[in-house]
Amino acid sequence: MPSANTGRPLALVTGASSGIGYELARQFGLNGHDVVMAADGRDKLEEARIRLEGEVPAGRFEAAVADLATREGVDRLYHALGGRPVAVLAANAGGGVAGKFSETDLDDELAAIQLNVSGQVHLVKLVLRDMLARGEGRILITSSLVSLSPGPFMAIYAATKAFLRSFGLAIRNELEDDPVTVTILMPGATETDFFESADMEDTNIAQGAKDDPADVAKEAYDALMKGSAQVVSGTANKLRAAAARITPDTALAQINRDQARGDDR
Ligand SMILES: NC(=O)c1ccc[n+]([C@@H]2O[C@H](COP(=O)([O-])OP(=O)(O)OC[C@H]3O[C@@H](n4cnc5c(N)ncnc54)[C@H](OP(=O)(O)O)[C@@H]3O)[C@@H](O)[C@H]2O)c1
Repeated sequence: MPSANTGRPLALVTGASSGIGYELARQFGLNGHDVVMAADGRDKLEEARIRLEGEVPAGRFEAAVADLATREGVDRLYHALGGRPVAVLAANAGGGVAGKFSETDLDDELAAIQLNVSGQVHLVKLVLRDMLARGEGRILITSSLVSLSPGPFMAIYAATKAFLRSFGLAIRNELEDDPVTVTILMPGATETDFFESADMEDTNIAQGAKDDPADVAKEAYDALMKGSAQVVSGTANKLRAAAARITPDTALAQINRDQARGDDR
């Protein structure tokens, strides 16, 4: 990974090889940051890095391969930074598992918890401490709209996203007298590789209207730079989020069940 110090602020974006993370990396590049793009798949990540260099000629994009579902992977990514100060962390890598909990694969679910929960907590801990020591920093944590409600047929995924929202808002509060902000991103259904990776392509949510990841990333970038506590991307999702706050959990579970319904469930 090249590491020349350009004097520009550094953004670390995980899950940057596609979807929302790719678009976040583009936002940071367009707005004067050097960007370290992290993901697990080497070829896909390198292709993404080259594509972004073409799309943002003034930007400087580096690739860091790391499996963030493992402690070693998170440590490797952190050490690959070589002590360079991270101005912005977009802790965005994540994935889902779909299906009826009694039938889904336990290893897949434990891996999702490792990536969405343990890996996020580990990376945020490491980077946050450096930011506090330096006296500046911004952290964006990608949760989801589904964090506001139970997610039948994606029970583990929804629970990991609820964890991230609660975790992020809690540490944001702890940091109220410190010079580091934490912002929670809550996208609704977004047109990315997510549904294919989670084996959810046959579901109502995957086949319905979805947001453009570029729009999601732009809203996230603006909220992060404002230091907002949380941002729900898209007008329709803002309305859904407002409705969720006054709807019983049992009713929300049923709505999500219908959304996650597919050919075999
Ligand atoms: N799409 C939606 O509808 C939606 C809605 C709400 C929230 N979100 C959240 O948005 C975030 C980004 O997802 P996306 O929709 O943009 O999907 P995506 O296009 O599939 O992006 C997922 C990213 O995470 C990386 N990743 C997966 N496993 C990893 C691992 N073990 N270690 C490191 N990186 C890993 C992927 O690259 P590799 O697989 O090559 O490593 C990829 O770069 C996720 O946290 C997701 O939960 C998505």
